[in-house]
Amino acid sequence: MSSTTAALDLATIQQLERDHQPPLYAKREIALVRGEGAYLFDSDGQRYLDAMSNYGVAVLGHADPEFAAALTDQLQTLTTGHQSFYSDVRAALLREIAGIAPEGMPRFFLSNSGAEAIEAALKFARAATGRPKIVAAKRGYHGRTLGALAATADPKYRAPFEPLGLPVTHVAFGDIDPLAAALDDETAAVILEPVQGEGGIYPASDDYLQAVRRLTKESGALLIVDEVQSGFRTGAPFAISHAGVVPDLLATAKGLANGFPIGLTIATEAVAGDLAPGTHGTTFGGNPLACRAALATLTILRERDLYARVTQLGDEIVARIEALQSPKVRQVRGRGFMIGIELKGRVTPTLRALQQQGVLALPAGPVTLRLLPPMIWEAAQVDELLAALTEVLA
Ligand SMILES: Cc1ncc(COP(=O)(O)O)c(C=O)c1O
Repeated sequence: MSSTTAALDLATIQQLERDHQPPLYAKREIALVRGEGAYLFDSDGQRYLDAMSNYGVAVLGHADPEFAAALTDQLQTLTTGHQSFYSDVRAALLREIAGIAPEGMPRFFLSNSGAEAIEAALKFARAATGRPKIVAAKRGYHGRTLGALAATADPKYRAPFEPLGLPVTHVAFGDIDPLAAALDDETAAVILEPVQGEGGIYPASDDYLQAVRRLTKESGALLIVDEVQSGFRTGAPFAISHAGVVPDLLATAKGLANGFPIGLTIATEAVAGDLAPGTHGTTFGGNPLACRAALATLTILRERDLYARVTQLGDEIVARIEALQSPKVRQVRGRGFMIGIELKGRVTPTLRALQQQGVLALPAGPVTLRLLPPMIWEAAQVDELLAALTEVLA
């Protein structure tokens, strides 16, 4: 245990964060200090079932021994390395990504976060088409850097920073007519989440995604899918594959390296095969430690067949929540381990009650309770979740 943190009790931790961080986050009162498998522990030793993976990140849960061993080995070998040099670990990761990338998408740009993966996609789309405009979806969320923010729909995030440089039109999600009307010969790309996350967990229908693909092709615009949140947790590496659609660009992050900061933008050869050196880049992106973390994560997900488990347990969770027939629940939506429970009232009291029952979940908008469990959950964790939900939704 680190001697630098051993002395910090909850009150001290809270005070230091309050004093020194900009007050940008509505904090939940506990301090998370340790994790083990599907469980998190706070500074008082209280155990919680992790039903959030820290916003979809910890797909392998916490302190996975195989993951920890891979990172330890890499820390003792080589941590940093710029992309202007070749790297064995980066090459091995690129080979692993090639095994899961949609067919016809062989170019992988490595960065450090979801927003960065989106920024790269937006820049690549503009570079490839020479067109300025973007069409995005209402309720869509793409991050808080200025380009990603312009594509994000909610005025709460955008308004303080307008005017935003990128011309973006937001159209209703799931309805093809307004999208068709918004496309013109200046549109560089349409950007969509195949399962909207922050907006409230809304999976797009296969028909809609296929129609978007058709329309973008006809108009000469590119299709960017944002799988920063949906990546890895819907029963396949990428949710877009369920619709049989191949986009031009795909951005992912969160679960890719099980908590090590990383971003990945996947592109077709036509979009990214000829990008001029220097048109985009990042110091930390593609460093050996991040690459090893992603390589270990993807290998473990594949070898333990966790994609199939998520499909089976995700369906079971949805069915069992519906079977509760709770008067507090309006609708249960989702795919795999990306589940939203839309409530008839505000979500905060229910989240607080769940926390008191020893379960950590998330909101997605004001009325939807969001579950993003680690992909290592087994039947016992599903039972534990349902026992807590039975109490709080009664
Ligand atoms: C769909 C989606 N896109 C982009 C982002 C931005 O990712 P980051 O917070 O890593 O910048 C998020 C984060 O929640 C997201 O859910």
